[in-house]
Amino acid sequence: MKTKVMNGLLQTALSNPAVVPIADVKFVSILCAIGLPKSQAQSLSSDIINQLVNRETNGGLVVVEKRIFASFGKITVSGKPMLEVMRRKFSDRAYIVCEQVLPYLKHLMPGKKVVDLGCGDGRVSDLVQMGLPGVIVTGYDTELYKAPGVAVDIYQYDGIQTGAFDRTYDGGIITNVLHHTLDKKMVLRELARIIKPGGRVVVLETVPSEPGQVARSVTFLVDYFYNRILHDSDVNVPGAFELAKDWPLLFEEVGFDLAPIRDNVTDLGIDQVLVPENHYRFVLERRG
Ligand SMILES: C[S@@+](CC[C@H](N)C(=O)[O-])C[C@H]1O[C@@H](n2cnc3c(N)ncnc32)[C@H](O)[C@@H]1O
Repeated sequence: MKTKVMNGLLQTALSNPAVVPIADVKFVSILCAIGLPKSQAQSLSSDIINQLVNRETNGGLVVVEKRIFASFGKITVSGKPMLEVMRRKFSDRAYIVCEQVLPYLKHLMPGKKVVDLGCGDGRVSDLVQMGLPGVIVTGYDTELYKAPGVAVDIYQYDGIQTGAFDRTYDGGIITNVLHHTLDKKMVLRELARIIKPGGRVVVLETVPSEPGQVARSVTFLVDYFYNRILHDSDVNVPGAFELAKDWPLLFEEVGFDLAPIRDNVTDLGIDQVLVPENHYRFVLERRG
């Protein structure tokens, strides 16, 4: 199923002559941000695009993804293994995400509980917990890949039911998760169920920079490249993007309103060099 979805989206994206050059520039910028010299980044990006275009004759998508990732093992960046440099740079990303959500949860007093739905390796959850004295953060994800040193509890769930009681949490975060799920409403309904009325939730989402297939396909390729080429992961990348203007309606439908604060919707722009896609922040309140 995952491979089928991605093959279809890759086909649409890679066969569009307006998309590939833009994605190529973005891949090169990511590889340069990792530390590769521009000429090496350009030739690596072309090689990756070429392998993805010819994935069927090269053994299929998953084989090609593994082969590309394995090839990074032979590359050094300023004398250090590229994989080690990548790992360090990716873990720094959690600080950016934490800074974007933390100011909106500062009202939570010691003893309050926060859920991080789709917490990934838990680095963001951990930083948020450290930034909110006495608050307990709990993570849930469909995949379990906790990073070393992360202290918060993380539970694996089926993407449908967390198993938490109704109205357990005083607040929540869901950062860069929803576009990874084909049934966003189902995930949001579960979040609404476990948040207390009046509880605040901060959502970070990737949104195409403008309407239309080109922006959507470029966003998909960057998301795909980050999650499945630069990480040896099996994260689903179904490209389930919404335009910024369409998110609030989805939130409303499942029981969240935009929080009554001035900056409840923020265009964060391209805020991360390692994932040069457009991000938005929505601050929500669980309807009572
Ligand atoms: C790009 S990662 C983001 C991780 C983390 N929130 C962060 O910002 O660093 C997306 C995560 O969403 C998770 N995910 C996908 N579908 C999900 C679902 N239905 N419920 C919860 N998490 C899900 C994936 O397993 C992955 O860990």
